[in-house]
Amino acid sequence: MTSNEPWWKDAVVYQIYPSSFLDGNGDGTGDIKGIMQGLEHIKSLGADTIWLSPVYESPMVDMGYDISNYEKINPLYGTLEDMDTLISACHSKQMKIVMDLIINHTSDKHAWFLESQSSRDNPKADWYHWHDGRIDANGKRSVPNNWESYFGGSAWEWCPTREQYYLHMYSVQQPDINWDNLDAREAVYNSAMRFWLDKGIDGFRIDTMPIYIKPRGYPDAPIKNPDSYTQRDGGWEHHPEVFDLHREFYDKIWSKYGELLLVGELLNIDDKSVALKYCSKSAKRVGMGFQFDTACIGYELDWYEVDPWTIPQFAKSIADWQQFVEGTDGWTCQFLENHDIGRSVDRFGSRKYWAESAKLLATLEATCSGTLFVFQGQEIGMTNVPKDWPIEEYIDVSSQGYWERAGKTPEAMANLQLVARDNSRTPMQWSGDVHGGFTTGRPWMRVNENYVDINVKKQDGDQASVLNYWRRALKLRREYNQVFVHGNFRLLESSQEKVVIYRKSSNSSTATVVLNFSDEEALEELPEDIGDLVLSNVDSISTVGRLQPWEARVYINIR
Ligand code: NOJ
Repeated sequence: MTSNEPWWKDAVVYQIYPSSFLDGNGDGTGDIKGIMQGLEHIKSLGADTIWLSPVYESPMVDMGYDISNYEKINPLYGTLEDMDTLISACHSKQMKIVMDLIINHTSDKHAWFLESQSSRDNPKADWYHWHDGRIDANGKRSVPNNWESYFGGSAWEWCPTREQYYLHMYSVQQPDINWDNLDAREAVYNSAMRFWLDKGIDGFRIDTMPIYIKPRGYPDAPIKNPDSYTQRDGGWEHHPEVFDLHREFYDKIWSKYGELLLVGELLNIDDKSVALKYCSKSAKRVGMGFQFDTACIGYELDWYEVDPWTIPQFAKSIADWQQFVEGTDGWTCQFLENHDIGRSVDRFGSRKYWAESAKLLATLEATCSGTLFVFQGQEIGMTNVPKDWPIEEYIDVSSQGYWERAGKTPEAMANLQLVARDNSRTPMQWSGDVHGGFTTGRPWMRVNENYVDINVKKQDGDQASVLNYWRRALKLRREYNQVFVHGNFRLLESSQEKVVIYRKSSNSSTATVVLNFSDEEALEELPEDIGDLVLSNVDSISTVGRLQPWEARVYINIR
């Protein structure tokens, strides 16, 4: 059953990381041809929308999040014609296609930046953030302020041609666009947004959406780390004027293209009312936002130091972000993985009970409200990279930055092993063939050796596999759409630290979800009126209150 809500609320979105999905031409890098070949797999999972991480022309310093031309496709992935074919193929399969919108910055190789950096008086001189820097009493010049880039080091870089600094909140090769310049704005609207919407795509995932407007006058960030000149938390997220800008996007562009899926990357949000300013319906900005409290529990995206956390804290975080839209006109979404974080089975599950815990996490995901996002490989329980991989295999710009600034210590290695972005970027494991069936060439990134055991082909034919469990879970989600996608979420008391029980309810039914996040058995008294068991990840349930390690159950009571 589906609701009368906009399509994107009921969507199950499958995120594709193009370099690592499937190589269609044997050059070792995934491509659009490979994505075409993989669509049936995605459909058979029960996902109906794909989100492509960037496929635009790019020098690939940050894997395509550094765009040198919004209107061209990276030749590694194919051509514009290939993209047209992919868009039509998705639509003819009744699937939607969403692209990544990266407009906080461009590549330093984008024609706009090349012109902007060429002199102080060219027509695009003001399209990026330029600054003379600070001059001290001795006439010595230094960076304009103490802001630290998300990838480490100063957020300012000296440009010899202009003899000025430019701002880059990410790598040196990703200069930030100056959104105060109205010509730059219009150019982004045409090149990055309208160009693709006119081709018929169904929406955008909006990269790093809260930081497009910088604090006026570039004030120093408060000093929270006295051991460093550069400081991380400069208050550059959620500037009051950023909300006006996103409203302008809506008024000028989004509203002209019908029901688009618009999901913003919200970064860090402590105050839920701020999240609602982005994703309530009446605010007219975006449909929903990714916030990282749950998926990044214990650490902050891009900063890597991981602190201990507990299952009750994890459950509370899920509940908070499930409930924050209840009684409002906002919408939420659910995800545990993407291309920026470690694999969920290694963050929240168990290697000892790999299959059971991967299925438990599938149960959690499939029963949470909001639009559901599944990252490639999650559906087969792909894991983090092996612990014996040396640092040279961690090829991401952010991992390398952290490794340097953390002093190359064993603790830094342990953090990378858990949450480095490389963990989720290894090539997709399609079969037990060489390179996991990902390519016939030399893979751009090392394939996780466990492809021999963990791969699509092996799981496809096995009814007890993680993949087939995901398929069942997503089918159930569709069948009881009102309670799982749109229902209210309430955590129930449990007597065990590691047992999470919650209720989902709609007008006509109540579902109870019981999850044992532990390598141990647990005894738990379950609520009365629990209804019928409709999903379970174990062969047989012995006693109602006895939970096996990593056991997951879903009950439904229809009124
Ligand atoms: C968020 C993206 O998800 C990440 O991969 C990228 O490095 C930064 N934004 C910069 O675009």
